[in-house]
Amino acid sequence: MRTPRRLISLLGATGLTLAGTVVGLAVLTAPPAAALDNGLALTPPMGFNNWNSTQCRAEFNESMVRGIADIFVSSGLKAAGYQYVNLDDCWAETTRDGSGRLVPSKVRFPHGIKALADYVHGKGLKLGIYTSAGTHTCNKLGFPGGLNHEQTDANTFASWGVDYLKYDNCNNQNVDAVQRYTKMRDALKRTGRPIVYSICEWGKNKPWNWAPSVGNLWRTTGDISANWASMISKAHSNQTHANAAGPGHWNDPDMLEAGNGSLTATENRTHVSLWAEMAAPLLIGTDLRKASAATFAILGNTDVIAIDQDALGKQGTVVSSSGGLVVYTKQLANGDRAVLLLNETGGTATVGTTAAKVGMKSAASYSLKDLWSKATRTTTGAISASVPSHGVVFYRVSAR
Ligand code: GAL
Repeated sequence: MRTPRRLISLLGATGLTLAGTVVGLAVLTAPPAAALDNGLALTPPMGFNNWNSTQCRAEFNESMVRGIADIFVSSGLKAAGYQYVNLDDCWAETTRDGSGRLVPSKVRFPHGIKALADYVHGKGLKLGIYTSAGTHTCNKLGFPGGLNHEQTDANTFASWGVDYLKYDNCNNQNVDAVQRYTKMRDALKRTGRPIVYSICEWGKNKPWNWAPSVGNLWRTTGDISANWASMISKAHSNQTHANAAGPGHWNDPDMLEAGNGSLTATENRTHVSLWAEMAAPLLIGTDLRKASAATFAILGNTDVIAIDQDALGKQGTVVSSSGGLVVYTKQLANGDRAVLLLNETGGTATVGTTAAKVGMKSAASYSLKDLWSKATRTTTGAISASVPSHGVVFYRVSAR
């Protein structure tokens, strides 16, 4: 058995040696950090956030948010699992009210957040909001942040019917991150309202080591942009923390850019496939009021969503990686594996592996369902495909 690094350092610290520590092993091999026990996000959160499409432009307002909720229902995205309609930065007035409470922008949200939450709830969806674990949020206009206002803000959000909080890291006054994020966790808990808690400290303080017991998800990276280099770099960073993920606590490589910027249809499929393979939150970041049919089809692929939302809650891991040709495998609850063949290079290439290498139990043959083309074929073990530049072939592999 490999001796976990944590155990080795513990043994070092206590002066124990590996020989004769059978009893010690049981005591010292601590389980991974316990998950936040708020019972939420047992599968990665799915929904929408306006930031990647609007940032703080004036078009971010209550009519947009209502429109997105409407489209979730009419397009079938709600039926496919998308649930949270989330507001990002710039939703507030720049000053608190006389009682120290946050105030929704009178221009963007003239009917207030409670009315918006009621509307979104009326569609069978949930509403998310944003603030920062600092004196102010990130925007230069200076919107108030939650540092030292944790309970007031948590109570305000709960009173509005908010279901999800993204808690950013700007203007944090160098106060310890674990302390800041834990304080808001406890404030949210005290409201008694179930609120998914999304930690957004950009991977600065190694959140994969402490956030599983503090938040439901935590960013592992800086901000994503809508281009190939950015998207693939977020995947590279995020893939190294697979051990930290599980039901109720997820690595977050940032919100989806599918449908935005210079990403091609092939790259959009790769982006959504990678996020599903890594059990990442699926927060749509494109303005669905303007999205193409192709973008809807990519975001709404229920076979791919099923990989992301698999009940076992395992993040997929890299099986092999050489010269930009990468194979991932993700264990699924029913014994299947989701196998992602990725080509990061500039030309078409064959990417291959085997059923044994991706962790399938031995069987006479396996069926491979291509989750994008929907074609199914049978193999006795080889799993290989020609993959276009920046593309993927995404298989669900089942023993026959
Ligand atoms: C960043 C955060 C982004 C977005 C932005 C808003 O810190 O990573 O996702 O929320 O702030 O100002």
